[in-house]
Amino acid sequence: MTEHHPQSMRAFLESIENVTRIDEPVDPAFEIAACLSHLDGGPPVVFEKVIGHELRVTGNHVTTLDAVASALATDRTGLQDKLIAAIGNPLAPVPVGEGPCQEVATENPDLAELPIPSFFEYETGPYITAGAIVARDTLTGRANLSIARLKPLGGNRAFIGIAPNHHLAVLARAARDRSEQLEIAVTIGNHPAVMVAACLYLGLGDDELAVAGALLGSPIEVVPCQTVDLKVPAQCELVLEGILDPDEMIEEGPVSEFHGMYERYGAGYVVTFRAMTRRRDAIYQAVLPGYAGEHIYLGAVAIAAGLARSLKGKVPSLVEVAVTHGGAGRLHAVINLKEPRPGAARKAIFAVWGAVNLIKQVTVVEGEVDPWDGVAVEHAVANHMRPDRDLIVVPGVQADRSEPLEQGGVISKLGVDATRHDGDRADWTPAQPPADVMERIRDLLKR
Ligand SMILES: Cc1cc2nc3c(=O)[nH]c(=O)nc-3n(C[C@H](O)[C@H](O)[C@H](O)COP(=O)(O)O)c2cc1C
Repeated sequence: MTEHHPQSMRAFLESIENVTRIDEPVDPAFEIAACLSHLDGGPPVVFEKVIGHELRVTGNHVTTLDAVASALATDRTGLQDKLIAAIGNPLAPVPVGEGPCQEVATENPDLAELPIPSFFEYETGPYITAGAIVARDTLTGRANLSIARLKPLGGNRAFIGIAPNHHLAVLARAARDRSEQLEIAVTIGNHPAVMVAACLYLGLGDDELAVAGALLGSPIEVVPCQTVDLKVPAQCELVLEGILDPDEMIEEGPVSEFHGMYERYGAGYVVTFRAMTRRRDAIYQAVLPGYAGEHIYLGAVAIAAGLARSLKGKVPSLVEVAVTHGGAGRLHAVINLKEPRPGAARKAIFAVWGAVNLIKQVTVVEGEVDPWDGVAVEHAVANHMRPDRDLIVVPGVQADRSEPLEQGGVISKLGVDATRHDGDRADWTPAQPPADVMERIRDLLKR
C-alpha cells in the first residue's frame, strides 16, 4: 500500500525501487543539470542537499519509453492505447476542500528562494522547466494545462516562453484583445500522468487535467488558488499564482530546444506572481530540457498518441505511431501498419504531416517491426525501401519555428515507405532455425 496519495509525485517516487539519492551538496548553477545529464536514461534522482536552499530537488522521473509506460501503470505495448482511451474518456477534476500544495503560503514570492537550476552554458539564467501551467479563458470558462519554461527576472517576476501556436499563447492573445491580463497557476511537482497529459495536443478548451484523471483512474482532486480564479492539483508540490501581462514583452536570449541546440526566439511575455503556496517540505521538480530523455519522451508519447488517434479513422491498417528519440521526440514519426492496402503508406505519411506541423520525416513500416525500435526500423528500411520508388520529398512546407533547419519559415519534408512491396523479391522467407526447435530451445534456455 502506498503511503502517499496516488495522484502525487511522491507516490510515483515511492513506487520506484531504485531512486538515485544524491547526498552530496549540489549547486543549482549547472551541477543539478550535469547530474541529470550524466544520469539520463536511468531512474529518478533526488537531490537531498541543494546549496543555498532548504527545499530538495528531483528530476529524471521518466527518461525512457518504458519508464513513461510504467509510470502510467502499463507497458510499452499498452501505452498508446491507454493514452487514446484516456483522451476519449476524460474524467473532469473534482474540487476538494484543501490540499497539501497549500500548506504554506507566501505573498509576492521571491523566486530566488526556490532552487531553480541553471541548465546550459549559454542560456541567460535559471529556468523553471517542470511547470504544468493552468490557465482559463474567462470568456468561455475553459481550462488548459500545458508546460512552458519560466525564467526569473528578479523578485516575483518571470519571463515565460510560449510557442505562438500553443493554447496558452492563444489564451494570452485573447486576453489582450479584451484588454485583460491572463491569470495563470504554475504547478510544480506533479505525477508523470499530469506531465504527459499537459503535453497532449487536444482541442482548444479540452482540459488536459481531465485526461490526467483518466490516466490515473480517478478524477484529479483540485483546490482553488488563493489569489487567482483557477483550480490546481491538490497533490502537487508547489504552486505559483500569477498574472501574465500580454502587453509586456521582454527579450529572452538564447534558449535550449528539444533538438539539442540553442534557439533565439526573441521576445516573450512577463508573469508577475502574487502568491506561492507549497507543501511544508516541498520537493522542487526539474525536467532537464534540451535533447534529454525526459523532455523528449514526455512530448513524444503525447504527440504519438494524438497522431494515432487522428489517423485511425483515415488509415484503417494503422497499428501504432512512434515519435522517435533520435528525432528528438518531435521531428520524426514512424508508422506501423498491418497488411496495408496499396498506397496506404503514402496516405499515412500525408495524414501525419497534415496533423502535426513539427513532424518532418515519416517512415512507414509493417508487420512485426516495433516502430519505437530504431534498429528494427532501419532494418525494415534496408530490406524494403527502394530509393527511386519509396522516398517522397516535399519542398517548401510551412515550418514550425523550432525546426532546426527552417529557412524563411519553410522546410522540406521526407516520407519513407518501408512497407513490403510484393514483386520486389521472389522469396521473403526469413532465415532462421525451424520454429519448433526455436521454441524448444527457448524453454531450455529459460531453465
Ligand atoms: C519539459 C517540457 C518543457 C516544455 N517547454 C515548453 C516551452 O517552454 N514553451 C512551449 O511553448 N512549450 C513547451 N513545451 C511543450 C508544450 O508543453 C506542449 O506542446 C503542450 O502540448 C502545449 O500545450 P497546448 O496543447 O495546450 O497548446 C514543453 C514540454 C515539455 C515536456
